Amino acid sequence: MSESPVAAPLRLGPVELRNRVVAAPMERNYCRPDGAPTDHYVRRIAAVAEGGTALVYAEASFVRADGKARPRQLAADEDSAIPGLRRLADAAHEAGALFGMQLVHGGRLAKATISGYTPVAPSPVIATVVDGDLPLELDHDDIADLVVRFAEAARRSADAGADVISLHAAHGYLLSQFLSPRTNRRADSYGDPARFLGEVIAAVREAVPELALGIRVSAYEGLPDGLRIEDTVDILDRAGVSELDFIDVSAGCYEAGQWITPPGELPRGLHAEAAARFRVLGPPVGVAGRIVDGETANKILSRGQADFVTVGRALHADPAWTRKVLDGTRPRPCISCNYCTDRLRTGEPVGCAVWPEAAGSLPAVPTPAKRPDVLVVGAGPAGIEAALTAARNGHRTRLVERRPVLGGAFGLAARLAEYPEYHRILDWQATQLAEAKVTVELDTELSPADIAGQPEDIVVLATGTARSVPDLPGALSARVHDLLAWLADGLDRELEDDYVVWGADRDGTAVADHLAAAGAAVTLIGTEPEPAHDVGARAKILPLARLATNPRVRLVLNAVVTAIEPGLIHVRDAAGERTVLRASGPVLVSVNAADAVNPVTGVRAAAPGKTVVAVGDAAGQGGWSALAIRHAAETMHRFAGGTIA
Ligand SMILES: Cc1cc2nc3c(=O)[nH]c(=O)nc-3n(C[C@H](O)[C@H](O)[C@H](O)COP(=O)(O)O)c2cc1C
Ligand code: SF4
Repeated sequence: MSESPVAAPLRLGPVELRNRVVAAPMERNYCRPDGAPTDHYVRRIAAVAEGGTALVYAEASFVRADGKARPRQLAADEDSAIPGLRRLADAAHEAGALFGMQLVHGGRLAKATISGYTPVAPSPVIATVVDGDLPLELDHDDIADLVVRFAEAARRSADAGADVISLHAAHGYLLSQFLSPRTNRRADSYGDPARFLGEVIAAVREAVPELALGIRVSAYEGLPDGLRIEDTVDILDRAGVSELDFIDVSAGCYEAGQWITPPGELPRGLHAEAAARFRVLGPPVGVAGRIVDGETANKILSRGQADFVTVGRALHADPAWTRKVLDGTRPRPCISCNYCTDRLRTGEPVGCAVWPEAAGSLPAVPTPAKRPDVLVVGAGPAGIEAALTAARNGHRTRLVERRPVLGGAFGLAARLAEYPEYHRILDWQATQLAEAKVTVELDTELSPADIAGQPEDIVVLATGTARSVPDLPGALSARVHDLLAWLADGLDRELEDDYVVWGADRDGTAVADHLAAAGAAVTLIGTEPEPAHDVGARAKILPLARLATNPRVRLVLNAVVTAIEPGLIHVRDAAGERTVLRASGPVLVSVNAADAVNPVTGVRAAAPGKTVVAVGDAAGQGGWSALAIRHAAETMHRFAGGTIA
């Protein structure tokens, strides 16, 4: 048994946590449209509980139908929700964990297109950040009804077997809308930010006196006119939070989402100091935010900044995170890329950039057995996942990569300032490959004819997409490079005074941001109205703000490059207007220049006796590592199951 601070039990009112790790409430589109959890949801809760976590929350669950903010959000608004909630509670309990329900009303963040109702809020302030509707100002009768609805949802949760209730007063939902002067502009008694929260606390406590009751709060909103820590502490004090069993500290609001799900460039455990400021209120304090490893968790606990750690994405990336932290072994690392956060808006089950099963279970594999040897060509995310899955399924596996390093897209991204956490997945993958006894051969390029001569019968092509610079005047000049090819060693060269990045997609934007932050003048040219158009809002929140405010950055959007000359770039905008820009440095190209040739055809022709498949980007199944690794893992399971012969 580990002696680390994280291993110590903790009492929260009527319940005892077996250790200090709490699985954060996380919406993941794991429900049906009627708000009932799917089987996958039940499995995910069970896996986190089996992984040693002390208390497992479901997600922000709506207490009244007009508070539903997402199509597949967990319902707690009707008694018909109880059987579904009970399945989640049972899954947690069977593995020795406590089960927590987080209660929410979306307020102005809810939408008529989702809930069927005009949203309500303390004041009619539109949430433009989510393209929100003009909310109706709540009257006193409706406020009284909401207080009752919170209490009823708590009672339902208790009937379903929940041990803990957390009131969601963080991140800009209804309870926090009452707390903040940005969204509560009322002149009546509910203009007192403590009043509504105080009434909800009292009603819920009365409804479920036997449960542990706490609150989740944003320590600060992260906006110039938003709540600061001292404001929040004062309001909570006046709302009666000292009587609660815990305070779970997060930060931010939708307009400052980098504090809710901090990207990897923000420090690990970044809200710990803020959390410590809430100790003065009395109840045990928890804290969330980039607690991705045991060291960070233990440091926060041993410094006394918090009593428990609330872990979100690290448990999404590896449900056994807690057990591994307690054992001192390495969890599969979350790289804080926020792919999961941005996937929420798609309505699809939320996957993960590093774990293929987050979006759904993989096909079952018959008992591991000795299986035919496998050659995987290409050691990017899909190739590594294919090799690991094959080796674990009993294939003797060889992984061959033409570059001198593992990692492909992850390896390239790890070179950029925006992605300082990506090296963690590269390190982890290298260890896993060694443990799984995969033979790795770097600096080895295999042509189709070479592949024909290899001993393995099964060939998995994970060679990504071939890209080429588009055909236009000047494109063949020495200053023009494919952006990804350049990234392999371009950053090792001396920084030039200026660069042109043509193609403001995710990769182009990240490279432009990196070069501009390093001190170069950068012209970023893209066909869309916004940089990183292929990325969700949360993943680009910091780079976009930097690019917009850096005077050395020239953004040329809604435009295409028509010709490249020495010292000049010819550009045409959407209206057909032509401009000539001065720029003499390298031109890095990241436009949709993917080569559509399927690599399988050539290898099959050269090696007719072999079974050849492509995975990830090479099979047109990528673009995102989450999709590429899932495709790779699924394909290898189908091999093991005999459905690809
Ligand atoms: C996909 C996703 C869904 C989330 N859903 C919720 C939620 O339902 N309720 C909530 O309070 N926080 C939610 N959060 C925030 C997390 O609970 C957590 O506070 C945040 O991710 C920071 O912790 P981490 O760095 O450990 O991920 C969500 C975060 C993500 C990434
Ligand atoms: S998608 Fe990215 S941020 Fe989300 S859990 Fe996975 S690695 Fe972490």
